[in-house]
Amino acid sequence: MTKALEGVRILDMTHVQSGPTCTQLLGWFGADVIKVERPGVGDATRGQLRDIPDVDSLYFTMLNHNKRSITLNTKSDRGREIFTKLVKECDVLVENFAPGALDRMGFPWEVIQELNPRMIYASVKGFGPGPYEDCKVYENVAQCAGGAASTTGFLDGPPLVTGAQIGDSGTGLHLALGIVTALFHREKSGRGQRVMAAMQDGVINLCRVKLRDQQRLEHGPLKEYSQYGQKIPFGKATPRAGNDSGGGQPGWILKCKGYESDPDAYVYFITQAPVWKNICDVIGKPEWKEDPEYATPDARLDKLTHIFETIEEWTKTKTKFEVMEHCNPLNIPVGPILSMKEIAEEPSLRETGTIVEVDHPKRGAYLTVGNPIKLSDSPADVVRAPLLGEHTDEILKDVLGLSEEEIEAARSESAV
Ligand code: COA
Repeated sequence: MTKALEGVRILDMTHVQSGPTCTQLLGWFGADVIKVERPGVGDATRGQLRDIPDVDSLYFTMLNHNKRSITLNTKSDRGREIFTKLVKECDVLVENFAPGALDRMGFPWEVIQELNPRMIYASVKGFGPGPYEDCKVYENVAQCAGGAASTTGFLDGPPLVTGAQIGDSGTGLHLALGIVTALFHREKSGRGQRVMAAMQDGVINLCRVKLRDQQRLEHGPLKEYSQYGQKIPFGKATPRAGNDSGGGQPGWILKCKGYESDPDAYVYFITQAPVWKNICDVIGKPEWKEDPEYATPDARLDKLTHIFETIEEWTKTKTKFEVMEHCNPLNIPVGPILSMKEIAEEPSLRETGTIVEVDHPKRGAYLTVGNPIKLSDSPADVVRAPLLGEHTDEILKDVLGLSEEEIEAARSESAV
């Protein structure tokens, strides 16, 4: 079985998280990903947050599967020469350096286009064109500048960042879609194109519903927010909504049995309107089914806090999994708060390849997240991340056709 992106060669100039998540996805779909790293240094994450001395970190290994690594000093003459050859042999160049870094190396878009008109040149930057376009950006800056932090957290607390890496991995996903779209377009146009994904834009895209609420606010209070029932006035901007659902079906996080000692003994509970009667029965409040104060979604809006407190009296008598067992057959949407430990140990996630155990020559076995996108004809095998420069000779020989003497010359000039 061939992989969906087999035959597509990626020149991977990415580092840290956003770019590497993008090229890792392309690698899972079968692209040949050639990761270019500085000789002796490599991607900075190789050495960050290390758990084992002198061994590539999990930060690096979990973001760089299914890639080959070549070391190349693209600031040396010989390195630039080799890089030029790589540009000619590859289909896509992906980078997420600080703005202008590739230009400073001598490879602006105009040069790349001239070297290889079919090349797709894809970048992640912190911001798009505008006042902040020259800024360096990391995950949490993007979460803040993209509107996520101002809408996350509790009403009486400061803005909050989320553990989901929506700025880095989220933008990597956006960029990957841009790349495969450009590859599809190239089939018709015969030409490559420039693909840009700004982290701020990616986060804003993921916060779409909050911009929805910003506009709804002009026409009155947001009645599905708990603060409405709590009679707390709304300000001028979309507020932080705690654990409110964000959709038309109110929800909240509720304590379950054992919450006193287990920080994750909680469940997300949604009071979906069509199953309201089932909810009333299961929590022991059958009288709410016909009571006009509770029977309709509109009537319930100003009492959500009381309703969730009442449901919590019931969930506190059950474990989060027992809540699932009671509610699922009744079509009541609930979800357990799973810890990373529980996710790591969950057998069904291992079976689907979402959590995968990988072997590494220096660190031994470790867990990683496999491809979350499943293609029936292009299943992803997770191949361990490369050691620094592990494939330098192989790439120079097989992809660029360099002789032993040429490789030796490059090595003696510290270009590789
Ligand atoms: N050979 C020689 N030099 C190389 C090289 C190679 N193979 N690979 C990289 N370099 C150089 C670059 O040319 C650049 O040099 P320059 O500043 O002289 O032009 C330098 O290494 C790397 O620069 P930079 O990207 O500024 O690294 P940084 O560690 O200072 O900043 C970020 C890191 C992430 C803040 C920055 O890259 C950035 O803002 N990226 C865009 C947004 C982004 O992706 N952020 C999320 C990261 S998860």
